[in-house]
Amino acid sequence: MVNIAVFASGNGSNFENILTQIEQQALKNVTCKLLLVDRENAYAIQRANNHRISWIYMNPKAFHNKEEYETEILEKLKEHNIDLIVLAGYMRFIGKVLLGHFPYRIINLHPAYLPQFPGAHSIRDAFEAHVSYTGVTVHYVDEGVDTGEIIRQEKLEIDPKWNLEELEMHVHALEYELFPKVIQIVADKLEEESK
Ligand code: GAR
Repeated sequence: MVNIAVFASGNGSNFENILTQIEQQALKNVTCKLLLVDRENAYAIQRANNHRISWIYMNPKAFHNKEEYETEILEKLKEHNIDLIVLAGYMRFIGKVLLGHFPYRIINLHPAYLPQFPGAHSIRDAFEAHVSYTGVTVHYVDEGVDTGEIIRQEKLEIDPKWNLEELEMHVHALEYELFPKVIQIVADKLEEESK
């Protein structure tokens, strides 16, 4: 069994999709032990409560620096025996402490076909660039901004008639499809390595 912690900052629809996939056993041998949010009012907390998942709010401003913040997070992850960190809309860079303790064990969902449109507004950026396609990427996290090794990515052809909301809807639909599949691939690999 692979224990995951999901990190989120806001809505948490991808977090909830992961929980549903686990509950329906479409995602196998994976348990979500913990949700971590960096914003007090993140709607993801409500979703965790609905699914009876433990959650913690960690306020980055309560710490002197990222190292102290992540050292505290690390303690919580150890308490829950976390094997894999899953970033699902966590809008904060991961620093040395977590990267050092979770090598190739932190994955991130990105709403674009990397290396195109890195950053925090990728769907809007793709829309405004009038490109013919965008996509969704899941990658390992390193110290760069959306630069880690790509695990899987999928393209989405953009219908020029779509408005921004329609494009967002299609990107999210693709995320809900791709992310659990990639979590399964990574979890299976970890399970295999631990044998
Ligand atoms: C998702 O679209 C995710 O790809 C994106 O934030 C959204 C979170 O939605 N992440 C990034 O942009 C990371 N750079 P959700 O909270 O409803 O899952």
